[in-house]
Amino acid sequence: MSAFYFTLVANSPAAAQQKPAPTAMANKQAALTANEAKVDALLKQMTLEEKVKMIHANSAFAAGGIPRLGIPELMTSDGPHGVRPEQGRDWKGVKDANDAGSYMPTNNALASTWNPELGYAFGTVLGSEANARGKDIILGPGINIMRAPLNGRNFEYLSEDPFLVSKMVVGYIQGIQSQGVSACVKHYAANNQEVHRDDIDVEMSERALREIYLPGFKAAVQQGGVYSLMGSYNKFRGTYATENAYLMNDILKGEWGFKGLVMSDWGSVHNTQNALRNGTDLEMGTDLVLMSKGIDQSATASGETGQPDLVNGSSKDLYERFFLANTALEAIKKDATLVPLLDDKVRRILRVMFATHMLGGTKRQPGAYNTKEHQATALKVAEEGIVLLKNDGILPLKKSVKTIAVIGENATRANSMGGGSGQVKAKYEISALQGLKNELGSNTAITYAQGYKIARGQQADAQLIAEAVAAAKAADVAIVVGGSIHGYDYSKWSDNAYDAEGVDKPDLKMPFGQDELIKAVLAANPNTVVVLLGGGPIEVSAWAGQAKGIVEAWYPGMEGGNALAHILFGDVNPSGKLPVTFPVKLEDAPAHKLGEYPSTPGNPLKQTYKDDIWVGYRYYDTYNVAPQFAFGHGLSYTTFKYDNLSVTPGTKSATVKVRVTNSGKTAGAEVVQVYVHDDQASVKRPEKELKGFQKVFLKPGESKTVTVALDSEAFQFYNEAQKKWVLEPGKFDVLVGSSSRDIRLKGNVTL
Ligand code: NOJ
Repeated sequence: MSAFYFTLVANSPAAAQQKPAPTAMANKQAALTANEAKVDALLKQMTLEEKVKMIHANSAFAAGGIPRLGIPELMTSDGPHGVRPEQGRDWKGVKDANDAGSYMPTNNALASTWNPELGYAFGTVLGSEANARGKDIILGPGINIMRAPLNGRNFEYLSEDPFLVSKMVVGYIQGIQSQGVSACVKHYAANNQEVHRDDIDVEMSERALREIYLPGFKAAVQQGGVYSLMGSYNKFRGTYATENAYLMNDILKGEWGFKGLVMSDWGSVHNTQNALRNGTDLEMGTDLVLMSKGIDQSATASGETGQPDLVNGSSKDLYERFFLANTALEAIKKDATLVPLLDDKVRRILRVMFATHMLGGTKRQPGAYNTKEHQATALKVAEEGIVLLKNDGILPLKKSVKTIAVIGENATRANSMGGGSGQVKAKYEISALQGLKNELGSNTAITYAQGYKIARGQQADAQLIAEAVAAAKAADVAIVVGGSIHGYDYSKWSDNAYDAEGVDKPDLKMPFGQDELIKAVLAANPNTVVVLLGGGPIEVSAWAGQAKGIVEAWYPGMEGGNALAHILFGDVNPSGKLPVTFPVKLEDAPAHKLGEYPSTPGNPLKQTYKDDIWVGYRYYDTYNVAPQFAFGHGLSYTTFKYDNLSVTPGTKSATVKVRVTNSGKTAGAEVVQVYVHDDQASVKRPEKELKGFQKVFLKPGESKTVTVALDSEAFQFYNEAQKKWVLEPGKFDVLVGSSSRDIRLKGNVTL
């Protein structure tokens, strides 16, 4: 196995695309202001009307366009794990469009690789395919914190941990933007659930905001140099996030120095004056959202919607129905102090246009579509992102196995088009069943049983279970492929979806009677491996104790079935690690235990994050709640020994060195995780916080010394009284291990 694995890593086109992991450096926003003189010159030539035309959409995914000045339309497309199929100007789709492309693993799978270089490779695929499709901005990555396990959109997000988010997002953005396409990091900020997402008003402490919910966005801006950012639907401390002066003007554009453009989420602008003044540079989707709600022009104009700002005079043009269109123009004409605000918005849009070669005479890269290289990157991300949760010696399976029973509808079901705006029309999607067939050829007999029926509320189907049990009994090995799903019936996805935009999951249980199915299969054949698909944690406690092997495959993209087979049969040694804690039961999750989910009781549109900074393992570890599978957990087919830890203090910083040895017989990769604990602090601090990690590939017997630099931020907390990050002098424990619950070595440093 080892030789194959290392050949794959070294020679794959994906490896060739990988660039060194980006490190923290000076604010990368400077790249956006490289053409300031040209931007100003263009701005000077524009009439007020033309400027206003730039700051709102002109159709479903396009905006602006001033032919007189050679300014093209700005074309956007979702994101975040493939370029979305053509929606057309009216969002009704485009017949016969050549838009079937690469379907990459979802973001949670990418995060599970803990490999920032793969973030970069992933981004280059998106950027390249965006170019091929004529898109200037990819609406991704989504990086909201996985706070609530039921959030229907967790599959689009990266992690419960802000440090892991920050590290993965930088490569991702730089990969997209290396192709001359803008990334658009979303959804800023505090959009951590889909229930009531349009209007919910989120309250949280300043410390939680700074320590948990903002670091990913800050890294996207300052280290990733992201060109665009999307404001979220929800309110934050009483004001819609997209029009929120504190979030947009003070923090994003002020403190962090963001020079690019802020676009609204589709229909997240609600007020002309607020959007003009408070940071929205480009309004998207308002017309379409109004249309989808059945609100027509006259109803809007007469104020029936409670949105009197949306007055469009006598215009009946659908695309004039924006808060930042005629209404804004009239307001600016009456109040000259608004002109500099308008100019700033247009300037930001023009900057992004120069950076993406839309202006300035530089050539747009042609891009490529679903190439072998893109497929190889999809495969690599899936292989490194699949997490081996449990292995009582059953894995890897032997290729000499004669008969396999593959059970479960997820083994054959396509997931690429499910789930809302993150849909992708995949050129192909290798299912688990197909991947196993590809792996084993004709030497092994593979039988298939559906096992369960996908329909919300569906309980165990006795007939399907009986068929599955019979198949399992007759086989040497059974592989159940189950877990969650993307919405299965797109026309009524809100009724049936589990991992999907616009809805949260009903609960954290294995849906469709799968607990009963798996228990019956385990009883019929103890040589059973359970493979889970999904956007996040799921409850497995009903049978996890009995299963010899459990694998989390997330939504592994177009090469997912092949990647899964490579892992199950040991062509690839698993190296994925959980980016999110699996609780034993939903009630253990801090959003439920300490917080208010989905709303404040008695007030559906209010939500206070009483769980504060106690998100994910910060909660489980500090409050001694045993998880089912811990943050950072992920097994390998080999073993790793840790020794020779040293922690050397610097000026308000430290350097951690640790030797890691592959002490088993199989080549593989380990993610060395470095957590910091503040021994004594004036505020309650978590038991441990991830502050560094490195993925290291080792042949059997090979040792490497891993060096992790901890800068001053690794030791700081956000002091609400002082309104800033502080490092309180004293002793800090440095915990080094294979997961948050598998700490192998402890050191400390006094600063
Ligand atoms: C709404 C979603 O929240 C956002 O992520 C997406 O990019 C837009 N719709 C456009 O599809």
